[in-house]
Order: sequence, then structure tokens, then C-alpha cells
Amino acid sequence: MCGIVGYVGQKQALEIVVAGLRRLEYRGYDSAGIAVLADGVLDTRKKAGKLVNLETLLGEDPLPDSTTGIGHTRWATHGGPTDRNAHPHVSEDGSVAIIHNGIIENFTELREELTNSGVTLSSDTDSEVVAHLLARILPKVGDLTVAMREVCKELEGAFTLVAVSPLYPDVVVGARRNSPLVVGVGDGENFLASDVAAFVDHTRNALELGQDQVVTLTPEGVSVTDFDGNEAVVRPFTVDWDAAAVEKGGYDLFMLKEIAEQPKAVADSLRGRMTKDGRLQLDEMSLSDEDLRGIDKVVVIACGTAYHAGLVAKYAVEHWTRIPVEVEVASEFRYRDPIVGPGTLVIAISQSGETMDTLMALRHAAAQGARTLAICNTVGSTIPRESDGVLYTYAGPEIAVASTKAFLTQIIAAYLIGLYLAQVRSAMDEADIRAVLEDLDNMPQAVDLVLDTVEPVRAIARELADCKSVLFIGRHVGFPVALEGALKLKELAYMHAEGFAAGELKHGPIALIEEGVPVVVIVPSPSHFLHDKVISAIQEVRARGALIVAIAEEGDEKIVAFSDHIIRVPVVPALMQPLVSTVPLQVFACEMATAKGHDVDQPRNLAKSVTVE
Ligand code: AGP
Repeated sequence: MCGIVGYVGQKQALEIVVAGLRRLEYRGYDSAGIAVLADGVLDTRKKAGKLVNLETLLGEDPLPDSTTGIGHTRWATHGGPTDRNAHPHVSEDGSVAIIHNGIIENFTELREELTNSGVTLSSDTDSEVVAHLLARILPKVGDLTVAMREVCKELEGAFTLVAVSPLYPDVVVGARRNSPLVVGVGDGENFLASDVAAFVDHTRNALELGQDQVVTLTPEGVSVTDFDGNEAVVRPFTVDWDAAAVEKGGYDLFMLKEIAEQPKAVADSLRGRMTKDGRLQLDEMSLSDEDLRGIDKVVVIACGTAYHAGLVAKYAVEHWTRIPVEVEVASEFRYRDPIVGPGTLVIAISQSGETMDTLMALRHAAAQGARTLAICNTVGSTIPRESDGVLYTYAGPEIAVASTKAFLTQIIAAYLIGLYLAQVRSAMDEADIRAVLEDLDNMPQAVDLVLDTVEPVRAIARELADCKSVLFIGRHVGFPVALEGALKLKELAYMHAEGFAAGELKHGPIALIEEGVPVVVIVPSPSHFLHDKVISAIQEVRARGALIVAIAEEGDEKIVAFSDHIIRVPVVPALMQPLVSTVPLQVFACEMATAKGHDVDQPRNLAKSVTVE
């Protein structure tokens, strides 16, 4: 998704904005641009392709010194990734430059109106219309903030907008609806960005902006209003990690760093949520125990990896609470006329907190009267802000597009919520809750042990790098792990991969099996009631030529006779197994993509946060 950076202060805007855009590269983009104000003149440079192309252009054709600037990395929606479609877009009279993230749904009508009024449009984008609308109203209202407010009222859809004008030097104006924008508050300087990573080098003091708000930055201060000009109350927060967290820290890839950070991410997401006497305390959830006792159904809404975390959690939460748990693909949820109401707890799982599909599903659920709770890794983001309560994961910033540590911590958070529900509803004995909490407490160490399996997995991935397809199978909590393993391989190695419930193979998918087809099997513990059924599934596919890669527990000797490769994971309780069996699948996909020469941290076509529906 697009990256946005704005700066106004005492320092050189160009280097701050370009460095900020570099921090946002992980969001996925295909062109970049920047605008600065210098001595009453607006000047811009923009270029298709990666940020390095813009930097080359800036070297050949430098911008003037300036202390006010905005920058953008564009993930093309309307109009291809070309120089002319790159942002910033400038009005015909040069009085305004804007950058935009989101989709303006009524842009066709606006383009037609502008064209009919004699404006010549210079791009194929929806965004450009905003520059012309601002330029048209600016002379009438005489203030960039007022102009932004009035133009926002004309727009439909999702947008984060940032504008500058040579008529108002030392001023940067932003606006947001459904799309991320956060303020960085400095000393004599202020920042706007899609993500705090863009300015955390300069300040960790931030302001989260609400829906339909306009923010005005000068070096001296920040003011926020709604679209009608009423002063808005915004929530300050402190970024709880430092700039090093968004650097590779000696790893070749952010994904490798984030895989390695998983033991700490799990530990940090557990910390402080258990009392000394072994009871859960989730005060920040801010849902009363009475509310939670009134719940008769849980619905999880999420996308991609977050959806898989919900699928894993379903087994545990239903087992502990005896409350039905539905897990829904967020993009489907609101269109199927779902049955939700005051007795429903809707849990929105989202690493970024900005996924539009999940946000829209959350709003639909809230409109139906459901209680809403976010599991999120990004403080100050939209989804937790719009939920009744939130349980943050503390995985630290996840930069690689392929989600890894967020997945494990989403499971942890969902488990904590399930146990808390069981605690307040007395659905479990306190001793049993304490026992599970102790199991969770052991998980950072278990995940750390799995990291020792990295090398054998890499060798297997390189051996299979030329295969055309990989199937993943599992049962019980191993089934969503199979889905997650397949997703990782699809998004990183760009190859066909599919996850199945092992019991489903004989109902059709086994027709896919032929000599040499790799099948990755998530094998439950030998003591698990489904172990032998998974062995049977292995025999079914092996008899037809499949190559078996088993993810199996230390000490499981029975699996040896049925496997071509075995990746060992530590012995953990059945419901905890996804926390260890997923890690080798992350490494497998990462290594396969590396072997194929792909951009692992920024895979083709993908964005880290999908802020369009
Ligand atoms: C997973 O590796 C992908 N990056 C993608 O499926 C992601 O999980 C999904 O887009 C949801 O993102 P969110 O957690 O930020 O809402």
C-alpha cells in the first residue's frame, strides 16, 4: 500500500522525507515522488519504479533546499505505475501539490466535472482530482486547511491526503478517512506518515488521528479538526520501540530477522498479563466481565495469515469456553448477511490494524450491535481505535510483507482471550487455567528450540526449489498450519501450494498426487488421538508417489518409516503445536524464495497492509 511522509520544521525536508519513504518501502509500491516548498516556489520530482530511481533523478536534477516537504510511494490502483501517474500531483496553476493513499470512488464524476470546467488532467489517476479541487477553492477560502476540509466533503471512498502550497509556506495539511495517517510530534518540527516507522528516528511522540479528521502541521504545532472545522480530541501515544527495530540488524532479510524474533515476540505478548497467583489480567481489553459473561458466540474476522491465526484459535477457545467460534474471511463477512448481535463478540485480528476488508467487516459487526475486540500489533491504528477493546500483540514492527512473528503472537493473544473468557465465565477450573498459562509461559523457549531446525529446512527447500507445486496437510490445529504454510509458499516462491485437512485428501485432492509431488505433513504428537490417522493419510499419498516432508515431534519414531524428510519440533501440548510447527514452514518458504532469487521482503504484487477493499 502507498507510503506517505510529510515534514515541516528546521531541517532539510528532502533527506527526512526520502529516509521516511525508505522506511515505508515494505508497504509495497511501484513509483515514488516528492514535493518541497522553497522561497515561495513548489517543486516536485517523481519517478516510476523503486525509490532508487527517484534518488537517481534527484541526483541528476536536485530539488532546492527546503524545510517543508511531502513524499509518496505509490501502489498503483487507478492508472499504471508510470512517471505521470506517480505522486505528488500538482494543480494546473502550481498552487497545490497532493499525495494520496486509498481510492476516491467518485473520481470519475469529479474528473468529468473538472474537464468540463476547462481543467486539463495530466494523469490516469483518481488522486489528481484532489489537487485541482483544492486549487479551485483555495482562492475563495484563503486557507489550505479550510480548503482541505471542503474538498474532503466532496470525496467518497477511502483516502489519506497530504497537501502543501507555496501560498502557505511552513504548512503541511493532511486528512484521513478509512486510510492510515499518524502524526509525529517533534521539537520545532512535526511529521505526518502512514506508519510511525517513517519518523521514529526523530520522535517517538505520536498522535493517532480519527476518522474524517484534518490535521495542520507547522514547525510550532499541530492542530486537528473534523471536516466541519470543530476541534478534534486526538490521543497521544509513545512508540514503544526504537529505530533499530525497523532495521535489519545484521540479517540479510527482515523476514529472517522476524522469524528469529519470534521467541521474544511471544514472550513480550505474554508479559504482564498474568497475576502472581496465576490468574489472567487483561485490563486493556476494556470489556467488562459482565459483557463477556453475556457472550453466546464468538466471530473472528481477519484476512490472510491473521485469518489462519483465527482458525487455530477456534479449536482452543471452543474447547476452553464451550462458546461457538466462527472464523470468517473478513472480505466475505459483511456480504453474507451474518447473524451477529449484542450477544456476539467479534474479534478482528490484524497485524497492521489498517486492513480495509477487516475494518469494513468490523464496522458492519459494530453496526449490528456486536461487542468488538481487536487483536493488533500496531498501536494507534484504525482497527483497535474503532473496536470496543483491544489486546495488543507486542511482536514489534513487522516489516517483511510475509507475516511470521505476528502470526504466532496473534495465536497467543487469541488464546489469552479464550482463557480469560473461560475464567470470567467459570468455564474452566482455576487450576486448569493456570496449567495452560504455564504451557504458554514455556512457548518462547519451545519456539527458540525450533529455530535450531532452520538449516535442515533450508536444505530441503533448495532440493525442492524446482518442483511445480507443494501440498500441505494437517489435522485439528495442524490444518490451519497447513493453510498458513501454503500461503507463505505462494506469496514468497510464487508457486502453487495448497493446504488441506488430511482427512479431506480422499475426497478429491488425492487426485493431485503423482510421482515426486512434495507433501508437507504437520504430524501431531504420537500421543495425540489423530496421530495414526495422519500416518494413514501419509500412506495414502506415499503409495501414489508423494515425497513426504514431515514436521514431527522429537521422539516420534513411528513417522520415520513413512517420511523422506523429517523436521523435528519440540514436544508441546497439542493446542500449542502451531506455535512450533509453523516456524519450519516459514523458513521453508523463505529459503525457497531465496533460491529462486525473489525479493523475499517485498514479494511481487503484494503490500504489507492492504488498505483498499
Ligand atoms: C501474510 O503473510 C500476508 N502478509 C497477508 O495475508 C496478511 O496476513 C493479511 O493481509 C492481513 O494483514 P493484517 O494482519 O495487517 O490485517
